[in-house]
Amino acid sequence: KFKSLVAKAAEWHELTKEELIYVLQPEDHKERELLFKKADEVRQNYCGSDVHLRGIIEFSNICERNCLYCGLRGDNKRLNRYRIPEEEILEAAAGAYRLGYKTIVLQSGEDSWYTADRLCSIIRKIKEGLDVAITLCVGERTYEDYREFRNAGADRYLLKHETANGALYTRLHPGMSFRARISRLEWLKELGYQVGAGNMVGLPGQTIADLADDILFMKRMDVDMAGIGPFIPHGNTPLGKASGGTLDLTLRVLACARLLMPLVHLPATTAVGTLHPYGREKALQCGANVVMPNITPSRYRKDYEIYPNKICVNEEPERCRGCIQNRISSIGRTVASDYGHSLKLKVRH
Ligand code: 5AD
Ligand code: SF4
Ligand code: FES
Repeated sequence: KFKSLVAKAAEWHELTKEELIYVLQPEDHKERELLFKKADEVRQNYCGSDVHLRGIIEFSNICERNCLYCGLRGDNKRLNRYRIPEEEILEAAAGAYRLGYKTIVLQSGEDSWYTADRLCSIIRKIKEGLDVAITLCVGERTYEDYREFRNAGADRYLLKHETANGALYTRLHPGMSFRARISRLEWLKELGYQVGAGNMVGLPGQTIADLADDILFMKRMDVDMAGIGPFIPHGNTPLGKASGGTLDLTLRVLACARLLMPLVHLPATTAVGTLHPYGREKALQCGANVVMPNITPSRYRKDYEIYPNKICVNEEPERCRGCIQNRISSIGRTVASDYGHSLKLKVRH
């Protein structure tokens, strides 16, 4: 049964929720390897050998939200907060461009100091100076703000849905609602962004059925990118004593996501690299086709502590670039040389 369901998913990219729950839980090593192998084949057929690199600048760790799992939550007073001055952000972007990055990701906590004007100024200057795509990841904003960012030149927007279980979403996000999250994802699509969503794996109280819903939710939303990574407990948060997501379960979710969304961009996340020294390589071999190396200026890095023991906090951007190149070559893959736009755009237009 397992074998035929995986074969069906690999061919038709459709499963019912019940079937997906079944495929998410291989019974032995053989079934597990089959799942990973099929996901790797689908990735090869639809995305090829290319791995897309996105250089991420974590430009502010100030956050007005209080997500229960996150080290940047406003109530965590034991964190040195920073905002990187505009000139340094532009320098970091230029440095990344020289290292060959074709996408710059601008990420921060939900920091309202960054008005639309301030963010648009950064976006415009990067787009004027460098031939790169820009992904924004700055949380929930107004429709008008999203429109201004888009007009300033932002190409993509990453707003993870975190969990498709509405009750769990409400528990984890004081003062926020899953409805508001979904409508923002819809706005972003309407505004012509390439849209990324995504969820954490191994959240307290999360079930396999919830993870199936995460995958089906993103498939239904037809997202361009699905950021799936393990939850890693952070000591200075209310979930500090929870147990986190495992590498194995994260890989199974990634593999199923690839089977059902053959053209989606799937990052091998920094979080999966934090769980295991070869976590990112493993992810790239069960469906993933994107890596997001850190290009934040070194002196700020350790303070973007979403979860503990994050990799690369002591490395310079040059080091990570070389490191990631080696890792990609070591598994017989190639670094993409194009912008790495959504693979769905070609199909849509
Ligand atoms: N473990 C793993 N991922 C986390 N994130 C936040 N806190 C954690 C954690 N403890 C992720 C969320 C969020 C992004 C900024 O980081 O998915 O969208
Ligand atoms: Fe802020 Fe994002 Fe962390 Fe939530 S997950 S506390 S919005 S940085
Ligand atoms: Fe940063 Fe390997 S990617 S050191």
